[in-house]
Amino acid sequence: MPGDGIGPEVMQVALKILDAVQSKYNVCFDYRHALVGGAAWNDYGSHLPEETLKICRESDAILFGSVGGPVREQDTDKWRGVEVHSLLGLRKAFELYANLRPAKLYPALAFASPLRSDISQKGFDILVVRELTGGIYFGQPKGRRGSGDAETAFDTMLYSRAEIRRIAKVAFEVAQKRRRKVTSVDKANVLTTMVFWRQVVEETAREYPDVEYEPMYVDNAAMQLTKNPQQFDVMLCGNMFGDILSDEAAALTGSLGMLPSASIGMGKFGMYEPGGGSAPDIAGQGIANPIAQILSAAMLLRYSFGMIAATEDIEHAVETVLNDGYRTADIWQKGNRKVGTAEMGDQILKRLES
Ligand code: IPM
Ligand code: MG
Repeated sequence: MPGDGIGPEVMQVALKILDAVQSKYNVCFDYRHALVGGAAWNDYGSHLPEETLKICRESDAILFGSVGGPVREQDTDKWRGVEVHSLLGLRKAFELYANLRPAKLYPALAFASPLRSDISQKGFDILVVRELTGGIYFGQPKGRRGSGDAETAFDTMLYSRAEIRRIAKVAFEVAQKRRRKVTSVDKANVLTTMVFWRQVVEETAREYPDVEYEPMYVDNAAMQLTKNPQQFDVMLCGNMFGDILSDEAAALTGSLGMLPSASIGMGKFGMYEPGGGSAPDIAGQGIANPIAQILSAAMLLRYSFGMIAATEDIEHAVETVLNDGYRTADIWQKGNRKVGTAEMGDQILKRLES
């Protein structure tokens, strides 16, 4: 589902990479194409049409581009909330409760990080594990009532033990395959929901004695990310804190065009999307960085298809291309070779096939 903005251009490149994986690993992927976001709006009058949901239900995984994009004057009101309708709708429809957002600072790209160079030079590799189908995003009741000065608006922050446990387990299990540390982000000094969050995560942590567990208040976590990002391995967050901190961590890597994400649920089904959004300002120019979309396809292979070797193959090809100095505009620096979307894809492809 390429969606809007730069989605179609970067998706085209990611599909070429998947095609190469088919030949190299002697597997056959059955692709279905579906409309979402603005692209769907024009044909169906909906950001997430039933036809698209049906295709998703018949599939093993969704490779998602991005949504949002040009607003037609007459549709401004209906358009508002395109991300909310299509993204939140998909997350809820398939109960994709676990959102994995890696924020890795590649040594070759340390210059692009807004961090002071003595901090960025050490590099970092953080995985934000964000709860995605609960918390204040979906808690009921939410609404508005009254009028004038007495008018009130409200949302409900709410988590069940089962919801906290299942996301905590995801965090501890991925940490076992990484550097074995989980920092659980909360606001247990103020919010009742977060006192409970901390309690349930602590209970869960006892089942993973091989993983270091540390609770941290969200305000401190936001600060620690800028001062000492190396201390983090897995950051476990509720829906809203994960939204905020994953953007912060992403920004520290220097380019949103580099970051993939996975949203997974109970089984193998998952949705995979780049973190950067539809970038309407550069859409259609052939200059967007396709790496986030390519790495999202790699995550799909890892989590939905269990093709670990192919995943690592792609990740390695990406790293090699960066080390060889090929850069799209967003990560370009004097002395590097500037390439567009298609050529970046071809360079990665070449190393994948070799
Ligand atoms: C994200 C986005 C979404 C979110 C919005 C667009 C609904 O910010 O995926 O992080 O808040 O989850
Ligand atoms: Mg966000």
